[in-house]
Amino acid sequence: MKVSVFGLGYVGVVASACLSRDGFTVVGVDIYEEKVRLVNSGQATIIELGLGELLKAGVESGRLSATTSADEAIARTDISLICVGTPSRPDGSQDLSAVYRVCEQIGDAIAHKGRSHIVVIRSTVLPGTTVKCAEILREHAGDVPVHLAMNPEFLREGSAIRDYDAPPFTVIGTNAPVAEAALRELYAGIIAPVFVTEPPIAEILKLASNAWHATKITYANEIGRLAKASGVDGREVMRILMEDTKLNVSKAYLRPGFAFGGSCLPKDVRALTYFAKTESIDVPLLDALQLSNHAQIELALRRVIDTGKRRVGLLGLSFKPGTDDLRESPTVELAERLIGKGYELRIFDTAVHEAKLVGANRAYIEQKIPHLSRLLVETLDEIADHAEVIIISYGAAEFRPLLAAIDPDIQIIDLAGTFPPVFFEGKPYDGIAW
Ligand SMILES: NC(=O)c1ccc[n+]([C@@H]2O[C@H](COP(=O)([O-])OP(=O)(O)OC[C@H]3O[C@@H](n4cnc5c(N)ncnc54)[C@H](O)[C@@H]3O)[C@@H](O)[C@H]2O)c1
Repeated sequence: MKVSVFGLGYVGVVASACLSRDGFTVVGVDIYEEKVRLVNSGQATIIELGLGELLKAGVESGRLSATTSADEAIARTDISLICVGTPSRPDGSQDLSAVYRVCEQIGDAIAHKGRSHIVVIRSTVLPGTTVKCAEILREHAGDVPVHLAMNPEFLREGSAIRDYDAPPFTVIGTNAPVAEAALRELYAGIIAPVFVTEPPIAEILKLASNAWHATKITYANEIGRLAKASGVDGREVMRILMEDTKLNVSKAYLRPGFAFGGSCLPKDVRALTYFAKTESIDVPLLDALQLSNHAQIELALRRVIDTGKRRVGLLGLSFKPGTDDLRESPTVELAERLIGKGYELRIFDTAVHEAKLVGANRAYIEQKIPHLSRLLVETLDEIADHAEVIIISYGAAEFRPLLAAIDPDIQIIDLAGTFPPVFFEGKPYDGIAW
């Protein structure tokens, strides 16, 4: 397979060097003649450990060359990787003009070649970009088939070659089997799990990964600031925190779903942010947690309002299954907002119902939420008889019989997202983040 790489910056030149090392014929393309000249003379266009040697070897082997001509590169290759820049505009929006421009050039060149071609977007792009690129390529390539994929790059500068060879995973966003097969062949020597998915998922996944990395850094810095103000070493706090691989550095708490709540998280976040205030320490990320959490409750409320229906069945009242603890449950707040707006509510929660009858939490329920306590029902049938809308606030197996046999007129609003999608096929269903 012969490969052209459009854009000889950090991503493109590393890909060119590694692919030629792996035995592929590579034609690099850039609009800057100087970069093309450097690559053709076997020199690196950027500072990166080990890159110069690979480029030199690639040129000497005859497998690597570069050009400013898109036509020449497309004519000589079967697959093109788009690695052009996607910088921020002054207002923060993503400037995709280089990606679209290169698609026009590639599309024209494919039309001239008159033979099918594979195009792969490796640049970091917003969701929807691949669809737009497909349109541009169709417009410019005419009847010549183009197989398109979105395949984000995960390398880091400073360890680019190492990262190219051992990425966390390879993500192929495509509906084109020819493009998928070509990428699998291109990366055959790379040991990493491969995920084939829809192009917009691949697009947002790359941005979500970078936002996650930025969040981790900012979180560690804020904890460090708070630790220092308490007279302790933030590095030691985070060192031990990271040793918890059950909850802290793990898959726990990383699925989109409903707001956090309960007797600990809201109160302890408040305690920490209040402490920061008293110490005059800025912790904007920690400050934003409650704000963002509240936005999730508002979103759930909006989803119910948007149905235009009034009779609501709420499955789950406490903040998670298997507990009768209602302190700071986001579902209690949602229920109160619904009642306040005049919705007719019935609530099913086994643990809370039992606690109301016999449990230690009985006094709390009767004193703090008598208005909700009155709306608790004992059986799922009572929810089914009443509801035009059913809200799933958490995923509990006990809800299954009701959801499996639900009347097709009843709207389901899922805040938990733990039941398999097949469960809701053919039913009016809306997830809060899926
Ligand atoms: N730099 C990184 O560590 C990194 C890592 C992963 C992903 N990415 C993403 O990869 C993309 C490229 O990043 P980069 O850092 O390599 O960018 P860069 O600015 O270093 O390189 C982009 C290159 O594209 C060239 N170019 C622009 N228009 C062209 C055209 N029409 N034809 C041919 N070449 C053209 C430019 O001249 C430049 O050399 C960006 O979307 C970036 O977000 C970057």
